[in-house]
Amino acid sequence: MLVLGIESSCDETAASIVEDGRFILSNVVSSQETIHAPYGGVVPEIASRHHLISLMPVIRAAIEPVGDPSAIDVIAVTNGPGLVGSLLVGIQGAKTLAWVWGKKLVAVNHLEAHLRAPFTGYPAAPPPLPPRRHLSLLVSGGHTILFLVDGDRREIIGATRDDAAGEAFDKVAKMLGLGYPGGRVIDQLSHQGDPHRYRLPRGLHKRGGLDFSFSGLKTAVLQLIGTLGDAVTEEIPNICASFQEAVVDSLVSKTAEALTTHAVDAVVMAGGVAANGGLRKAMESLCHARGIDFLVPPVPLCTDNAAMVASLGYELACSGAFSGSDLNAFSSSLWSRRGELRHPRGR
Ligand code: KG4
Ligand code: ZN
Repeated sequence: MLVLGIESSCDETAASIVEDGRFILSNVVSSQETIHAPYGGVVPEIASRHHLISLMPVIRAAIEPVGDPSAIDVIAVTNGPGLVGSLLVGIQGAKTLAWVWGKKLVAVNHLEAHLRAPFTGYPAAPPPLPPRRHLSLLVSGGHTILFLVDGDRREIIGATRDDAAGEAFDKVAKMLGLGYPGGRVIDQLSHQGDPHRYRLPRGLHKRGGLDFSFSGLKTAVLQLIGTLGDAVTEEIPNICASFQEAVVDSLVSKTAEALTTHAVDAVVMAGGVAANGGLRKAMESLCHARGIDFLVPPVPLCTDNAAMVASLGYELACSGAFSGSDLNAFSSSLWSRRGELRHPRGR
């Protein structure tokens, strides 16, 4: 089954064709990063307008490798969470194409789609199948959630109580005048800095169960910047490295704690922050030491893309979870603590 995935929840317009939920035949991403950079963050109105310009060229480029639309079986589109104006552009495009081409439509939750990325890959290097029992750490711009997955069952065992890890990266980058988006820049600058130069707080260290907290760390960086005054400029690589070390330490130590109470075969990591070099290395070492697998997508599949949307779309299509022309966008996602997702998929 060939699924065309469409993603427009934030500042990436993306389209992808995935075969049988696993094999990527095309993956096209048009980023608006440089357009929003001067504003220090995504401007929703500008984002929607650019999705409108990019959507059809991106879809056309994604379809090219399969020849023509007749080869596509299903269209999957992200309908939340995200910027409603941006989501509506993708949804309206998907609805229109589904009607014109006579295809079924599937609505996909963006966060759930991130969790599919580790099991999606190119035919030349087949992706792993989901391990039966594993921990899944979702670290994106707006969410930090640790799931215990057992077959079809998914339970939330930890989550951030305040900022998401990605949000902390973006806010600290902004404080240091490093622009938007911040994660990748901090990651790069960290290579030139000393991660032990400043001892920054690890939120909920040895308390709070498996929950995370990053707002105290963010405040500590702000205070450090104030204390350093003019000396801050030459200290930027050290601040970045010390901050990244604190985030990585928090994420890895809570995952390690979870591994002591839950016997699993693997740790799986997904979302934009999973692109972080320091985090990938530290999580790999943890899993190696515990003798379990560590599964993380290649960097381009950690950040927003439509292959993950098409991949989840395949699963939903197999279960008959189709949507109708009443499909709408929504800005935030509701997860119950037991890991159940209340996701409106339309009719
Ligand atoms: O998953 P994503 O692309 O979008 C959301 O669904 O939120 O995640 C975006 C987040 C941003 O906060 C960005 O700064 C962060 O991922 N990010 C990184 C890196 N690349 C992207 N954070 C740390 N290190 C990176 N290399
Ligand atoms: Zn995302």
